[in-house]
Amino acid sequence: MILVTGGCGFIGSAFVLSWLARKDEPIVNLDLLTYAGHPGNLAEVTHDPRYHFVLGDLGDQPLVERLLAEHRPRAILNFAAETHVDRSIHGPMAFAQTNVMGTLKLLQAVLGYWQGLPAADAAGFRFLHVSTDEVYGSLEPDAAAFTEEHPYQPNSPYSASKAASDHFVRAWHHTFGLPTLTTNCSNNYGPRQFPEKLIPLVIHNALNGKPLPVYGDGRQVRDWLHVDDHCAALLAVLERGQAGETYNVGGRAERTNLAVVHAICDALNELRPLASGKSHQSLITHVKDRLGHDRRYAIDDSKIARELGWQPAIAFDQGMRQTVEWYLANGDWVESVTSGSYRHWIEQQYQGLASVP
Ligand code: NAD
Ligand code: TYD
Repeated sequence: MILVTGGCGFIGSAFVLSWLARKDEPIVNLDLLTYAGHPGNLAEVTHDPRYHFVLGDLGDQPLVERLLAEHRPRAILNFAAETHVDRSIHGPMAFAQTNVMGTLKLLQAVLGYWQGLPAADAAGFRFLHVSTDEVYGSLEPDAAAFTEEHPYQPNSPYSASKAASDHFVRAWHHTFGLPTLTTNCSNNYGPRQFPEKLIPLVIHNALNGKPLPVYGDGRQVRDWLHVDDHCAALLAVLERGQAGETYNVGGRAERTNLAVVHAICDALNELRPLASGKSHQSLITHVKDRLGHDRRYAIDDSKIARELGWQPAIAFDQGMRQTVEWYLANGDWVESVTSGSYRHWIEQQYQGLASVP
């Protein structure tokens, strides 16, 4: 038995699905179902006897203590978080509450449980904290990619809150001996990503003939990893990672935001041409830049490649095309998640530019 938090979100749901496709071992999913969590992401396993959903907050310590006592997991993967940088600029307190205090309370509950385990179970137990490359800050264009030794220099409220949670995880290993693992992964893309993030937002707007908002000059660089590759990396870290270690995970696919948006437009020009005959590129609109916008992230993945034998398997162009095809084939999903609160966010963030019809 393993327990995940945040399993109804983008990456957590991909992990639960990949787990149940490969393993017999049951999985418990603790998720608060915020705006970003959708039970429909896991519709195909809802009735699987190996899957158990619990509605609740990772920071509800008595609840987590009860769950641990009842299910006695051998591992925990912590996906639950507030994850959108722009939202963290508008409302940072929720990020402190969930990402910092939530993780801290989870660690406290897990530590008590771990300390009560028989020695052999305690030795095999793992707490895997899923984090981000954004904790390392921003790179100059020619600077070497982030290694695990790069100093933490978080610049946004989101990355500051993730950095704080990483530090608590580190301290719970160093001080109390909890067998932790931390992964710092680059930008993910793939099916079921909430359409507030760049790639699904651009696909969604393009399908509705709306402007494609590019912040500033669009020359900011991110490294992109398909979510299924991320899940494979998490499995490798869970199974073979060294307790107390951190692992950087990346896609070996650095792209400017403009290049990403063009790749989406190219796929849509072929798969779903605009009735006007114009290219989707004609919808690209430069808008006001994000406050404190990090210029570049890049991952040096040599540690996970060397020590755990993991490397990304899905090439960016192939993964991007599959992702666009998924959104084309899953209009119902997009419809179901772009509810009233989604519309409110888009109107506030883009001031009518990309309003949903
Ligand atoms: P997401 O926003 O899609 O989903 C977050 C999930 O957490 C949702 O199901 C939500 O309901 C749940 N949640 C939020 N607050 C909760 C709480 N208090 N208690 C329980 N559940 C709660 O996020 P994602 O993109 O799937 O990211 C998952 C994790 O991976 C996060 O920790 C994020 O920092 C990390 N990460 C994401 C990326 C990326 O590109 N998306 C990259 C690297 C790391
Ligand atoms: P995002 O998907 O929010 O991920 P993150 O900020 O965690 O990297 O954004 C990816 C990049 O795309 C980032 O540089 C900001 C940019 N961006 C836009 O240009 N326009 C948008 O509408 C959004 C949401 C993001």
